[in-house]
Amino acid sequence: MSAAGEPLLRVENLHVQFPTEDGVVKAVDGISYGLGRGRTLGIVGESGSGKTVAVLSVLGLTRAQGAKAEGRILFEGRDLLSLSEGELRGVRGNEIAMIFQDPSSALHPLYRVGAQIVEAVRAHQDVSKAKARERTIELLGLVGIPDPGRRVDDYPHEFSGGMRQRAMIAMALANEPKLLIADEPTTALDVTVQAQILALLERLRTELGMAILIVTHDIGVVAEMADEIAVMYAGRIVETATAETLLKSPEHPYTWGLLRSIPTLDGPRVEQLAPIPGSPPSLIDPPSGCHFHPRCAYAQPDHARIDPELRPLPTDPAHKVACLLEPKVRRGLWEKSS
Ligand SMILES: Nc1ncnc2c1ncn2[C@@H]1O[C@H](COP(=O)(O)OP(=O)(O)OP(=O)(O)O)[C@@H](O)[C@H]1O
Ligand code: SF4
Ligand SMILES: [Mg+2]
Repeated sequence: MSAAGEPLLRVENLHVQFPTEDGVVKAVDGISYGLGRGRTLGIVGESGSGKTVAVLSVLGLTRAQGAKAEGRILFEGRDLLSLSEGELRGVRGNEIAMIFQDPSSALHPLYRVGAQIVEAVRAHQDVSKAKARERTIELLGLVGIPDPGRRVDDYPHEFSGGMRQRAMIAMALANEPKLLIADEPTTALDVTVQAQILALLERLRTELGMAILIVTHDIGVVAEMADEIAVMYAGRIVETATAETLLKSPEHPYTWGLLRSIPTLDGPRVEQLAPIPGSPPSLIDPPSGCHFHPRCAYAQPDHARIDPELRPLPTDPAHKVACLLEPKVRRGLWEKSS
């Protein structure tokens, strides 16, 4: 049992490395975060910043790829990193479920949608096929599939992209997980369906009381639904705060760049898009000092030498930033630029 007030998930100083022919890829380089019961944490960052590796490691899914993981991943106080593959299987799809960007990766094209969810139900619950089918229809209804009693026997190709994503969410919910991990769950969908899926996740979180860890390269996706946001750059968390604070008073120059690249509905899209110049660094040989310095408009000479720590702000301990500029200077810059 976890102590009262202890978060559901607590990741401490997690490092995940892949040995490759070109060198060791430091995909996750010492990240720490906590997620409370029924809360939503959004992890955002550009492509290649280590978001997927960070969440796949929670379920031990990087082990098969030869990754070396260090640190602690405490789920209800139990360190998942120390569990055997067999023990982890009991956690996966049961206490912690995961949904991916591409629903076709989770739904087998040759089996009926319902049969696959029935299997997920029976993987962790000792119930009859008939009972599991009943539960499957209920789950399909819960995620907004119309006429679930009939659609349960459809094949995946008879579902639209949005419906397949809903079916995948239904499958993830089969055993009422305490934590749902969603990796870019809406990237493959068009904007309208994207909004529907996000609203669905939000509703399920409230109704079922599960926590959500959502990964996206698009800060706009988590702006409304996350309680907290962690911004990743080059395998590290460079800023974290409540969503409200992070959107209103971001302090890291990289976060400023991500926020300026949110397309808004008022005004022409193209003009609103100001992508961060340059590209994400190699994780085999990242830049010295502050990893962001080659792309940062505010870099000072010593920022290529000194590696900033993720530190709480004196005025708000829940808001942490890894940048060498003085908080007062950063605030001034943000206010001037916005
Ligand atoms: N199996 C692997 N072997 C070697 N390197 C890997 C492996 N998996 C991921 N990486 C590397 O780890 C880094 C982080 O990858 P990751 O997939 O976590 O990024 P991401 O932030 O999820 O990006 P995206 O937004 O494109 O999904 C990348 O440099 C990637 O090339
Ligand atoms: S430490 Fe320097 S280079 Fe790094 S983000 Fe802050 S201002 Fe930019
Ligand atoms: Mg990814």
